[in-house]
Amino acid sequence: MTVAISPGKIILLGEHGVVYGKPALAMAISLKVAADIEISSSYTVNSRPLDEKKHIYIKKAIEKLWDGEPLSITTFSQIPSASGLGSSAAITTAIVAALFAMKNGFSKEKVAKYSFEIEYDVQGMASPIDTSTCSYGNAIMVWKKEKEGYIWKISKNGSTWYIYPFEMPEINIVIGVSNIKSKTPSIVKKVSKFVEHSSFAKDLLNEMELLVMEGVKALRQKDIVKFGEIMNQNHKILYNIGASSREIEKLVATARKAGAYGAKITGAGGGGSIIAIGDDCERIMEALKEKCKDAYIVTPDKEGVKVWK
Ligand code: MEV
Repeated sequence: MTVAISPGKIILLGEHGVVYGKPALAMAISLKVAADIEISSSYTVNSRPLDEKKHIYIKKAIEKLWDGEPLSITTFSQIPSASGLGSSAAITTAIVAALFAMKNGFSKEKVAKYSFEIEYDVQGMASPIDTSTCSYGNAIMVWKKEKEGYIWKISKNGSTWYIYPFEMPEINIVIGVSNIKSKTPSIVKKVSKFVEHSSFAKDLLNEMELLVMEGVKALRQKDIVKFGEIMNQNHKILYNIGASSREIEKLVATARKAGAYGAKITGAGGGGSIIAIGDDCERIMEALKEKCKDAYIVTPDKEGVKVWK
């Protein structure tokens, strides 16, 4: 029996821009997935035959990494699926880590790299931010700029992203999960068409780059009020590049009305989730619960992907 646990993620600032090499900040969260893998007589997931479509991330991980006997895989998840909270990235990193561990040991860097390849294969267009966050844990900044102190770098189709560790202050973040499923690949493609054809979109991404740098500074100074203002400005840009929806706008407004210093889309948007910060997280969460599918208060996950054999 091999068990792997991986955290989900939230993007604090800079989603979409990171696909084009702009900086983004992401944090691993205290909602997690677990995968238990055992040798078996046929391939199954949660006691059903492995389904090429439903279990596409698992299927690809097996194709890339396993040539042994069939496997029986059981998964458990605290992360709602298609919510923009990294459920696919977390399941991929957990399975990849477990398969590496069953062969000859794993490193977080190897897990991040293979998991990104799988995500890219499935989604067609992606940055390595989700899979690197789930693998590394804590928080990371992802950027095309090479500076000292990166933990790994990942290249694909002529783009290279450098992954930097980021020390998160102790912080509670409220998540509101909308009733609309986040369709990451289609939103990423929609935004890419806008970016390709509009210099306005490029200006917005440049503006977002500056915001991410300011946000990093505010968090380092533990200035949560300032960080909240920056989240609001980042949300406005995401709205302008077409990543929001009526439902998301409603949730962002609800969080702000309940006292949030800042509230924004997290992840690709369209549907999915919002994040908010403020002094009274319980109040924000309760207000969100009235309007959305579910709401949580999360803290940074300190460990990233882990395996027990
Ligand atoms: C999704 O969590 C973040 C996006 O920037 C896509 C990506 O970076 O792969 C929207």
